[in-house]
Amino acid sequence: MTDPDDRTTPSLSPEAIELEKKVAAEAAAGLVESGMTVGLGTGSTVAYLLPALAARNLSLRCVATSPRTEDAARAVGLVVEPFDTIDRFDMTIDGADQISPEGWLVKGGGAAHTREKIVAVSADRFVVIADSTKTVPSIVPPIPLELLAYGLASTLRRLGPVTLRPVPASPDGGIIADYVGPAGPPEDLARLFETTPGVVAHGLFPPSMVSIALVARGASVESLTF
Ligand code: A5P
Repeated sequence: MTDPDDRTTPSLSPEAIELEKKVAAEAAAGLVESGMTVGLGTGSTVAYLLPALAARNLSLRCVATSPRTEDAARAVGLVVEPFDTIDRFDMTIDGADQISPEGWLVKGGGAAHTREKIVAVSADRFVVIADSTKTVPSIVPPIPLELLAYGLASTLRRLGPVTLRPVPASPDGGIIADYVGPAGPPEDLARLFETTPGVVAHGLFPPSMVSIALVARGASVESLTF
């Protein structure tokens, strides 16, 4: 029997997932108003946001969370500025790897979580966009990390089970890794990472950071607040 409260989606075709990403991204593009400063996240869902936003022909000032997003945003005609003089955003829009029922997010599957977190906390409204496979009953590792290269072996020893991701360093020179130890309450894991010197940032985003999550289910969009 199906649990009506179960928000997980057992299986979706790759095409259905892509369609949901597009539906969620277009819903978020519709929230943006002319004159806004906008933080642009990173990932395959944000890739649908950029053309949808550009198609609205609004006057916007945007900041990107990765070189990838910056290039893609400029390619569709969005104005992207460096994140030095803008000190806040009206709205930041970004994807997520996991969304728990309480509103905890895991981010960083694309290794951009450090910049994504700074841009998310700088926004009056942080809007999460996702296909329905991203809703999970509870947060589980791997949890993305960005680590300082200095003292790396010591940091790894103190963190417990962590695997280094075979990807280039972040644009800020950090080592990308994933915590693969036991699952636990996200607040406990977040505290572990935040009290471990050598951890630049982690991919757990608390519910207090999230204004709304727009989760597509087929062609419709569910708005989740926490
Ligand atoms: C980038 O580092 C990540 O935080 C992405 O925002 C997250 O992984 C969601 O990516 P997709 O939209 O590609 O699923």
